[in-house]
Amino acid sequence: MGSMPMQKRWTVKSRPTDEVRPEHFTLEEAAVPEPAQGQLLIETLLLTTSPPARMWLTSGGLSGKPIPIGDVMRGSGIGRVATSRNPGFAEGELVSGGLGWQTHSLSDGDKLNPVSKVEAPKDLPLSTRLHVLGASGASAWFGLLEIGRLREGDTVVVSGAAGSVGSIVCQLARKRGCRVIGIAGGEAKCKWLSDELGCASAIDYKHEDVGARLETLCPGAIDVFFDNVGGDALDAALAQLAIGARVVLCGGTSQYQQDGAWQGPRNYFHLVYRQATMAGFYVFNFADRFDEALLPLEDGVRSGKIKYAEERYHGIEQAPMALQRLLSGQNFGSTVISVAGE
Ligand SMILES: NC(=O)c1ccc[n+]([C@@H]2O[C@H](COP(=O)([O-])OP(=O)(O)OC[C@H]3O[C@@H](n4cnc5c(N)ncnc54)[C@H](OP(=O)(O)O)[C@@H]3O)[C@@H](O)[C@H]2O)c1
Repeated sequence: MGSMPMQKRWTVKSRPTDEVRPEHFTLEEAAVPEPAQGQLLIETLLLTTSPPARMWLTSGGLSGKPIPIGDVMRGSGIGRVATSRNPGFAEGELVSGGLGWQTHSLSDGDKLNPVSKVEAPKDLPLSTRLHVLGASGASAWFGLLEIGRLREGDTVVVSGAAGSVGSIVCQLARKRGCRVIGIAGGEAKCKWLSDELGCASAIDYKHEDVGARLETLCPGAIDVFFDNVGGDALDAALAQLAIGARVVLCGGTSQYQQDGAWQGPRNYFHLVYRQATMAGFYVFNFADRFDEALLPLEDGVRSGKIKYAEERYHGIEQAPMALQRLLSGQNFGSTVISVAGE
């Protein structure tokens, strides 16, 4: 008799009060579950993690409900259908969705852990579907073009500029003839913004006074501020808006750690002085239009005109460390955790 196939999974052990650390999770082993009629067993190939994961552990973020202690940590990824008892999915097909931090998961494709079929981009790594050719790329595209109503020649300031979304925002704006100023943490990320992504200037918020730099670089001249981090960066940008500026609220990474005690925008009244608008958006509201963004981005990546960076981890064991490094800015590029690999 062969041994029973086992799966590994990370469950939530306790709630962080400050930094997320591996001690907040437990690595468990269990038998690989059997799919019931109508279900699929999915083998996780790749996972990613992103800043809102911090809120899922405390307030819950968008869902308003934190992950219960003892439940599998949430996370999106790409997997392969290992066993199908659902006529809509064939064994071997690739699917993406909230697979969780585990090597295997069950789904019925629809209501129970919904997944959708995903196509590997031709001649490009499958992992790009987790960032530049996935939700990050779509966020950059629709946030900048639809919410930011970008115009050629605009002055665009981007916070979290070296991040998964921010790095694409910088390049899309540059390609449309805009002057782009990126804000990121540390010399290496700022150098990447200036040398590779086409930013006219990069501000290192960990070592420079962002307000003073913006006042020098673009006084009263920001047409679009694409905000990934909130807090002080948002306030500094609000103080330098041009008349008719658009402030795009994509994320608030600087506040997720203080989840529950958010720093509001002190300088919000500049929206009145400058007759500007500030609007948030949720990328999945554009889900039926993703191809509008992802097809041109795919061409851009293939031709080398759109660049991306990836921070790779190997094995499900590394998932908590990947999240810790992401939230402390020690990462460089979009997080990809290779579980069974491509
Ligand atoms: N609205 C939507 O539909 C939507 C969709 C996707 C993403 N988002 C949001 O957009 C933001 C960016 O997402 P992403 O996936 O591209 O993540 P990301 O920017 O790649 O996230 C990681 C980066 O966040 C930065 N960071 C960490 N702590 C920070 C702090 N205290 N202050 C400032 N920056 C900090 C670090 O960069 P530095 O080294 O530069 O600090 C780190 O490398 C997130 O807030 C996310 O929730 C929203």
